[in-house]
Amino acid sequence: MYFYLCLLGCFCGLRIAAAAVVLDALGRLNLSATCPDTFCSLTEKPMPYSDTPALQLRELHLSNCSRESVPWILLNLTPGLRTLVIRNCGSYGISKESLMPVVNLTSLQMQRTNLWALRADQFSMIPKLEILELGHNILYRVNANAFNGIPKLKLLGLQGNGIEEIRENTFDPLLELVHLDLSGNLIEKLPKDIFANNTKLETLLLNGNHLTTLLSDTLIPLTNLRLLDLGRAGQLDNLMLNIINVQTLVLEGSSLTDLIIQGGFIRLKASNNELSHLYVGNKSSVIEMDLHGNLLNGNDTYNLLRGMWSLERLDLSKNIIESLAFNEAYSEQQGLYILPSLKYLNMANNRLVSIPSDSPILSSRLTYLDLSHNLLLTLEVEKLAGLPNLEVLYLEGNRLSDFDYKQFHSKHETLKELALQDNHWSPGLYRKMFIYLNDRGVRLQARIEHKVQINDSQVDIDWPPKEASAQKLDAAGVTGIHPYWTLRDILAFATLLVVLAILLMNLYHILEEEGCLRRFRRWRRSTVPGGNTRTSTRRLNEQDSENSSSD
Ligand SMILES: *[C@@H]1O[C@H](CO)[C@@H](O)[C@H](O)[C@H]1NC(C)=O
Ligand SMILES: *[C@@H]1O[C@H](CO)[C@@H](O)[C@H](O)[C@H]1NC(C)=O
Ligand SMILES: *[C@@H]1O[C@H](CO)[C@@H](O)[C@H](O)[C@H]1NC(C)=O
Ligand SMILES: *[C@@H]1O[C@H](CO)[C@@H](O)[C@H](O)[C@H]1NC(C)=O
Ligand SMILES: *[C@@H]1O[C@H](CO)[C@@H](O)[C@H](O)[C@H]1NC(C)=O
Repeated sequence: MYFYLCLLGCFCGLRIAAAAVVLDALGRLNLSATCPDTFCSLTEKPMPYSDTPALQLRELHLSNCSRESVPWILLNLTPGLRTLVIRNCGSYGISKESLMPVVNLTSLQMQRTNLWALRADQFSMIPKLEILELGHNILYRVNANAFNGIPKLKLLGLQGNGIEEIRENTFDPLLELVHLDLSGNLIEKLPKDIFANNTKLETLLLNGNHLTTLLSDTLIPLTNLRLLDLGRAGQLDNLMLNIINVQTLVLEGSSLTDLIIQGGFIRLKASNNELSHLYVGNKSSVIEMDLHGNLLNGNDTYNLLRGMWSLERLDLSKNIIESLAFNEAYSEQQGLYILPSLKYLNMANNRLVSIPSDSPILSSRLTYLDLSHNLLLTLEVEKLAGLPNLEVLYLEGNRLSDFDYKQFHSKHETLKELALQDNHWSPGLYRKMFIYLNDRGVRLQARIEHKVQINDSQVDIDWPPKEASAQKLDAAGVTGIHPYWTLRDILAFATLLVVLAILLMNLYHILEEEGCLRRFRRWRRSTVPGGNTRTSTRRLNEQDSENSSSD
C-alpha cells in the first residue's frame, strides 16, 4: 500500500517538478538554458547565476527556498517578467530596489514567505502591477503609503496575516481595486473613510477578524459591491449597513443581535448569531436568506418577510418562532404579506405548536418544507392542501399522535421524501404508515443528520434543548433502518483488516524463523493421541491385509 502511495506521490511530484537545472562551465546556474520557455518554476536553493539573461521568461515561480532568502538577484536576468510567484521562501521583507529590474510586472504573489512589514512606496518600482497577493505571511505593519505608485491594482490579497490596524488613507491610491481580501487578520476597527476612493470594489472580505464595530458610513462609497463577507468577523452586536445592492452578504457567527440593512441584497447568510431584530430596507431583490440559529420570534419574521416577493429560499431553523399567524394582512408601508416565490422553507427546531391554514409563508410553490423538531400536536391534512408541489416534508421530532397518511398521500402524489419518526404515534401507526407510503414510492426513513453547523453562537449551545436531541438519538436506535457505514468507514475497516493480515503474516514468519512452529508441530504430533492412533491402526490394518493376502 505504501508503495502505491509513494508511486502516487512521485507521479504528482513529477507533474509539478521544477525545471532541470543547467549549469555553465563555471558551475553557475544558467537561467537562460534552465528556463528556455516563457514559464519556469525553480525550487533550487540560491546559488550563483551566470550572466546570460532569460529574456523570453514571462512567468517565474520560486518555491521552497526554505529558510534561505529569496534570490532577488535573479530578477536582474528576467527583465520581461510579467508574473512572479514566490511560495514557501523566507523573505521577511522586500526592498523597493529589488523589484526595479522587472518594471513590467503585473502580478506579484508572495505566500508563506514570512513577510512581516510593508513599507512606504514598497511597490512603486512596478507601477503596472494589477495583482498583489500577499496571503499567509506574518504581516503586522502596513504603512499607510505602502500602496502608493500602483494605481492599476485590481486585486489585493492580505488574508491570513497578523494585521491589527489599517491606517487612514491606506487604500486611497487604489482607484481600480476590484477585490480586497482582508480576511483572517486581527483587525479591530476600520477608519471611517477607508474605502472612500475604492468605488469599483466588488468583493470585500473581512471575515475572520476581531472587529468590534463597523461604522455604517464606511461602506457607503462601495456602490458596486457584490460580495461582502463579515462572517466570524468579531463581536459586532449592533450593525447598521449602508449598502446599495450587494449580491451576497455573509454575516455568519458574528454575535449580531440587531441588524439594520439600508439597501438590499440578493443572498444573506446570517446563521449562528443572536439576531432578534433584522430590518431590510430594499426587500424587492431578496432571493435567499439563511437565518439558522438566531433568536427571531413569530412577529420578527412577519415584519421581516412582508414585502419579500422574490424570496425563494428561507432557512429559519433554530429560532424561537412560536407562531406563523399574522395580525394584519396589509400595511401601507410594507405592502402585502405574500411570498409567492418561496420554494424552500426550513422551520426546524422552532417552537411551533400548530400550522395555520392561511399563512402566506406556506406558499403554494413550496417543494421543500421542514417542520421537524417543533411542538406540533396535530397536523390536519387540509392545512397542507395549499401545497400542491410539495416534494419533501419533514415532520420528525414533534408530538404528533395521529396523521391521515392515506388522504395526505392522495393529495400530494408528487411527494418523494417524508420523515415522521420520533413522534408520539399511537402503537403500530408508524409501521403502518411506513409500509403504506414506502410501497407508493415515498422515501420514508430517518434522515441522516447532514446539518453539521458551526457551533460558535450561544444560541447553538443551549438550543435545541437536550431532551430533543436525546429523543433523536433514541429514534435512531429504535428505527435503526439505515446503516451508518460511509465509504470512509469501509475504507478504514479494510485498511485495518489488511494491517491485521500483515501483522499475522509477520508473526508467522518470526515464529517459523525461531523454529517455534517446528517444535510446536513436533509437540502436537507427540501429544495428540488421535494422530498416533490413526497411523498405528492403519499400520495394523496394513499388516492384517498383508497377513490375509499371504494367507
Ligand atoms: C547559457 O545557455 C544559453 C542557451 O543555452 C547559451 O547561449 C549561453 O551561452 C549559456 N551561458 C553560459 C554563461 O554558459
Ligand atoms: C514545498 O514544500 C511543501 C511543504 O514542505 C511541500 O508540500 C511541497 O510539495 C513542496 N513543493 C515543491 C515543489 O517541492
Ligand atoms: C516593458 O513593456 C514595454 C511596453 O510593452 C516595452 O516597450 C519595454 O521594452 C518592456 N520593458 C522590459 C524591460 O521588458
Ligand atoms: C431596490 O432594489 C431594486 C433591485 O435591485 C432596485 O431596482 C430599486 O431601485 C431599489 N429600490 C430602492 C428604493 O433603492
Ligand atoms: C406579536 O404581536 C402581537 C400584536 O402586536 C402581540 O399581541 C404579541 O404579544 C406579539 N408576540 C410576541 C411574541 O412578541
